[in-house]
Amino acid sequence: MILVVGGAGYIGSHLVKELVESEKVLVLDNLTTGHREAIDSRAIFFKGDLGNQEDLEKVFSSYPIKAVMHFAAFSLVGESVVEPMKYYQNNVAATLTLLNTMIKHNVKKFIFSSTAATYGIPNVDIIKETCPTSPINPYGRSKLMIEHILADFAKAYGLEYIILRYFNAAGAHETATIGESHDPETHLIPIVLQHLLGKRDRVSVFGSDYDTEDGTCIRDYIHVTDLAHAHIRALDALLTGKKSNEVYNLGNGLGYSVKEVIETCERVTGLKANVVLSDRRPGDPARLVASSEKIYAELGWKAERNLEQIIKDAWKWHQNQLY
Ligand code: UFG
Repeated sequence: MILVVGGAGYIGSHLVKELVESEKVLVLDNLTTGHREAIDSRAIFFKGDLGNQEDLEKVFSSYPIKAVMHFAAFSLVGESVVEPMKYYQNNVAATLTLLNTMIKHNVKKFIFSSTAATYGIPNVDIIKETCPTSPINPYGRSKLMIEHILADFAKAYGLEYIILRYFNAAGAHETATIGESHDPETHLIPIVLQHLLGKRDRVSVFGSDYDTEDGTCIRDYIHVTDLAHAHIRALDALLTGKKSNEVYNLGNGLGYSVKEVIETCERVTGLKANVVLSDRRPGDPARLVASSEKIYAELGWKAERNLEQIIKDAWKWHQNQLY
């Protein structure tokens, strides 16, 4: 059985939907930001908190868990600057409680969701895993702390892990039965699509004077289903002993500016957006684009869905959002 912590969240729920095809899945989620409806009915659900020792004891003593995948983190850069305690408490302290309980119960395989925010402001156009990590906000630091802890726990306790550093997760399941639903929503693609559905009166472009081709920030958008598939490859590599104690970037290797994303949303939907140029948002690097060569070379995974497909699937979801 695979324990998916945070399996009711946006990325976790997409992973669960794929993973139930090949494994027994147990989801642990406290539903503070996740959605009960997002959990595939073939998975077992345990409502609880990864920072709660009692909840964890129940889970680890009741089920034969062979690996843990950890998606249960707060992930908003701006919020992390204003409320760092929340980020260090959940993303670091609660994760330590989880790791501690795993080791106690002799469960030593762990897939960790990390982030491009660990790189800070990179001095290269295409980011490889060997680029220096120097996060510029508490969110990125909270993830990097766990990355360091994992390396130490591997040496001391024999933990085996794979770290996946996501770039910009986006899109929804092709069936439109699950998708992105944050409250409040801060991410670019859902904001543009909500605007095009009439739920917001404009789209603000945060900064148009960056040192990029059109002056707006460039990001590497990756379809959430591609992300889910990457996790399954990583889990398989960990379970079969093919790979452990590695870090992989997960992106498309292609960068799109904020303006290009808005234009693609307009093209896909056939609607015109009311776009307003506004100030930069604190903490935004100008450009974050992944090299995903390492995971392709070592695990055979690459992203298969482009920006247009991401937006098509997100549009289907937002038109008929179930939760
Ligand atoms: N943006 C706008 N207007 C909006 C919303 C966003 O112009 O209304 C811009 C942002 O300034 C940024 C780009 O669109 O340049 C993408 O912003 P998102 O909020 O969609 O995503 P981020 O790149 O800020 O964050 C994502 C994840 C984080 C992760 C980060 C890694 O949500 O968890 O990528 O850099 F840390």
